[in-house]
Amino acid sequence: MTSAAAPGKIILFGEHAVVYGQPALAVPVTQVGVRVEVSDSTRPGIWLEAPNVNLHSELKSLSPDHPLAVAILSLFTFLGIDSFPWLQININSTIPVAAGLGSGAAVSVALLRALSTHLNQSITNEQISALAYEVEKLYHGTPSGIDNTVVTYGRPVFFIKGNPIEVLRVAEAFTMVIGDTGIPAPTREAVAAVRRLWEADPPHWETLFDRIGRIALQARKAIEAGAIQALGPLMDENHGLLQEMTVSSPELDRLVEAARQAGADGAKLSGGGRGGNMIALVRPEAAEKVSKSLERAGAKRALITRLDKNKD
Ligand code: PMV
Repeated sequence: MTSAAAPGKIILFGEHAVVYGQPALAVPVTQVGVRVEVSDSTRPGIWLEAPNVNLHSELKSLSPDHPLAVAILSLFTFLGIDSFPWLQININSTIPVAAGLGSGAAVSVALLRALSTHLNQSITNEQISALAYEVEKLYHGTPSGIDNTVVTYGRPVFFIKGNPIEVLRVAEAFTMVIGDTGIPAPTREAVAAVRRLWEADPPHWETLFDRIGRIALQARKAIEAGAIQALGPLMDENHGLLQEMTVSSPELDRLVEAARQAGADGAKLSGGGRGGNMIALVRPEAAEKVSKSLERAGAKRALITRLDKNKD
C-alpha cells in the first residue's frame, strides 16, 4: 500500500484579481487535508472509494470529465502507461468541498503523488502541480493555478499566474481564525461572474484588480518584514474590493463583521466567495474569543490556524 497526503489552503490576499495577472498570497492549512491510499487489487479495474463524496466506482464508469478520471488518465498519459493496473484507491478528506479551502486541488495532488509512487515513477512537484492544474480547469473554468501551487508545495506562496513559484518568507508567526459559512459555493460560478463583469467594462475592473494587486504586494512586504499589524487593515481593504466585485455574500459579511467586533485586527472572505470561508487576523490571545463569536454569528465551524516563521 502506498499513501500520500496534501493540505488545505487559504488565500490571504488577491483572489479573483490573480486570474487577471495580479499577485496573490496563499498559505497551506495543515489542520485539514486529504489522504490517498493506493494498493494492488485482485479485482480487475481501478476502484475508487471516496466516502466524503459518496463515491464507490470503477474508473471506467466515471464520466470522462470527472476530476478523478481526468487526474488518473492524464497521469497515465504523462507516464506513458497504456495497460491499466488493477488498483484500489481510497480517498479520505477533512477539507470541506466548495468552501475555498482547496479541496479539489488537494485531492488531485494527493492522488497524483500516491499513484505515481505506487507505480514506482518519480515525478517532480512541478509536474504534479502542472497535472493538478489541468484538473483545476474542471473546477474553476479559468483557474490562475494558485490552488494547485500552494497545495503541491505545502509552503506559503507569493503567486503570479504563469511565473515560477516564489516561497513567501514569513518573518514573524501570525494567527488567523477561519470561519466557514457552511454555504457551498462553486468557485467556477464566482470566477465566471467576475469575468462577465470584466467583459462588460474592462478598464473599470482592471483598475480594481490593480488595487488588489497593490494590496497583495504591500502584504508581502509586511509579512517578510514581520510587520504583522499592517496586515489587518489590508485585509479589510481587500474585503471591500471583493464586495465591489460582487463575490461576497450576506453570510460572509456577517462573519467578517462579527470577527472585527470580537477584536480581530482585520477580516476578509477567502477564495472564490459567495459562500465558503472567511479569514480573520487575530492576536493569539484573541483567537478563542473571535472563534466563538464566529460560531455565534452562524459559522458552521471555526478553525484557528497559525502561520509559523519559515525555518530556512
Ligand atoms: O478555490 P478557491 O475557492 O479558493 O478559489 C481560488 C481563487 C480564485 O482566485 C477565485 C480563482 C483562481 O483560480 O485563482
